Amino acid sequence: MNNTLHDKYTITSALPYANGPIHIGHLAGAYIPADLFVRFLRLNHKDVVYVCGSDEHGAAITIKAKKEGTTPEAIIDKYHQGIKKVFEEFGIAFDIYHRTSEKIHHDLSQEFFLSLYNKGEFIENTSKQYYDEEYHQFLADRYITGTCPNCGAEGAYGDQCEKCGSSLSPTELVNPRSILSGKTPVLKETTHWYLPLDKYQPWLEEWLLKDKKEHLKTNVFGQCQSWLKSGLQPRSMTRDLDWGVDVPLKEAKGKKLYVWLDAPIGYISATKQWALDTGKNWEDYWKKQENKEDESHLIHFIGKDNIVFHCIIFPTILHAQGEYILPDNIPANEFLNLEGDKLSTSKNHAVWLHEYLDEFPNKQDELRYVLTSILPETSDSEFTWKDYQAKVNNELVAILGNFVNRVMVLSHKYFDGVVEKGSDLTGEDRHALTTATTLVQKISQAILNYKFREALAQFMNLARLGNKYLADEEPWKKIKEDEGRVKTVLYVSAQLMANLALTSQVFLPKTAEKMFDMLGDIPRDWEDAGKDSLLPNGHIVNNPILLFEKVTDEQVDRQLEKLAKAKEKSQESSLPEQKPNISFDLFQKMDIRLGTILNAEKIAKTKKLIKLTVDTGIDQRTIVSGIAEFFKPEELPGKKVCVLLNLEPRKIRGVESQGMILMAEDTQGKLQFVIPENPLENGSVVR
Ligand code: MF3
Ligand code: ZN
Repeated sequence: MNNTLHDKYTITSALPYANGPIHIGHLAGAYIPADLFVRFLRLNHKDVVYVCGSDEHGAAITIKAKKEGTTPEAIIDKYHQGIKKVFEEFGIAFDIYHRTSEKIHHDLSQEFFLSLYNKGEFIENTSKQYYDEEYHQFLADRYITGTCPNCGAEGAYGDQCEKCGSSLSPTELVNPRSILSGKTPVLKETTHWYLPLDKYQPWLEEWLLKDKKEHLKTNVFGQCQSWLKSGLQPRSMTRDLDWGVDVPLKEAKGKKLYVWLDAPIGYISATKQWALDTGKNWEDYWKKQENKEDESHLIHFIGKDNIVFHCIIFPTILHAQGEYILPDNIPANEFLNLEGDKLSTSKNHAVWLHEYLDEFPNKQDELRYVLTSILPETSDSEFTWKDYQAKVNNELVAILGNFVNRVMVLSHKYFDGVVEKGSDLTGEDRHALTTATTLVQKISQAILNYKFREALAQFMNLARLGNKYLADEEPWKKIKEDEGRVKTVLYVSAQLMANLALTSQVFLPKTAEKMFDMLGDIPRDWEDAGKDSLLPNGHIVNNPILLFEKVTDEQVDRQLEKLAKAKEKSQESSLPEQKPNISFDLFQKMDIRLGTILNAEKIAKTKKLIKLTVDTGIDQRTIVSGIAEFFKPEELPGKKVCVLLNLEPRKIRGVESQGMILMAEDTQGKLQFVIPENPLENGSVVR
């Protein structure tokens, strides 16, 4: 990858669902990288629009509304404002943060759909889909749960089993149930409009795997390749839902556009609104131009779960429509983990940004810094509070903050803030200044190639350079004998600090402002970065301002405790609810006995199943048990177990199972045998 600067850019960050607050994983995925890139472009005076907004349609919103016992409107209003404010606080520099519930978005999405429809781009198809008869509605994939056909886990969704990760379609679920009524849904015919992705497969292969090959990040290229390899299928662009953008066809009354059709169009409608607000022409940023050189460069910043939509589906839509530019690049990030586990909203394992802002007021740049240093650019990465503390204390405080503070304090102490050469520059001085120039070039190169971690590391190297220069020159020792030399040392140091102020505008916007407040009116454009005379000779600097404070052990401990509490709570709340009562008679019908495992062997080609031979006291029988993830067959013979004897025999993977071993399951799904404290003889009754 070796990118150069263009004149015009359309930059997008994934529209977050307005169904909950956002956390550090969001920032590290699609927002910080885009923000750094945009800040860099603006400092280079490029024509750039950076758009984002709330994604307010789809099952994500309606499910949340149902959970909170309220309406989708109430949900989006509640979360849209909060998310918008958090982005502002962290300085994410959108030109507009829009929302997909706005009329301008509904209008544009319908227009877009119709233009494809009128070109004959859709295939109309009628098929059978699950329908909840009590609620009188078709069920979106997420509204159907059941048993996973692959791993047997309960609670798999119509589109995916979260236990084993396999992707499913609703009709594959065993015992499907509607999450609305809890009842078994029925299959009913419905008509939808499909985008024939298969028809565009050859075009996509050419465009993605050939034209874009050199430009895409390897993680992105890899995913595209594997999607294309498994063959694309037509995908329905409409849904039977009551929340979303209406399908603008008479024969589709009550149907809505697929959320993954309308949401990316949200980038365009946001641009349209921004253009209206600022007197620009939105088409300059989205449409093909007569002269290729006049076209904007579209770049989508996203997380890896959005790759297929931004690399395959949305580009196909844009291409099929015909008037639009295609993305220049899609620099998707992988995922950020937290303290050894996946970030999880449902388990409340997260650092919520609104809580961070409450607990660490005015420390936005500290979090930006740490997250930038661990962006999951090429693989998943991890945030820990210890690392946060170490990076703030050992890098921001001890290197950047320390250097800036020494330059400012010494300049005031010795020369009342006047920065001037007191003697000719030495070889050391010139070396420090040219090294700064080189580092700035490295920062630029890294940003252009979406290597933001690398860019930040070079930025910190600039601060390191300043610190080392001061430590080598020791102005505090030389001040007695050679005031002229000390003047020069502080002059050179202040030029380095000015370069830090200038480049920090990309990474640490609040800190940059503080540094400019200290330095006064000096150049801020990127074209001036790396220069050795940003401050004129004789310039007077203002008073020092403290940039960073240390993070204490107590602060770290408090955060770790908070996560531990959340974990405890989520484990409690994941205990299943009590089942409905049964009669004593029914209970008495169960014949449970103690037994001993005699023999155990794994059933081939299964992950979980073991075939056991058990001595039940009254006979020896075969029982198939799903315990292979927790026990090795060789450790089982001799183990005492409780067995439900009179469970109807059942064939599992061709083996007849005559009973069931009783197991206790913890909240993590881990299994243990249920046995009496002191073993009794085989055949003893449990009741
Ligand atoms: N809301 C989606 C998510 O959070 C992202 C939508 S991005 C857009 O995964 F392109 F559709 F806008
Ligand atoms: Zn599964």
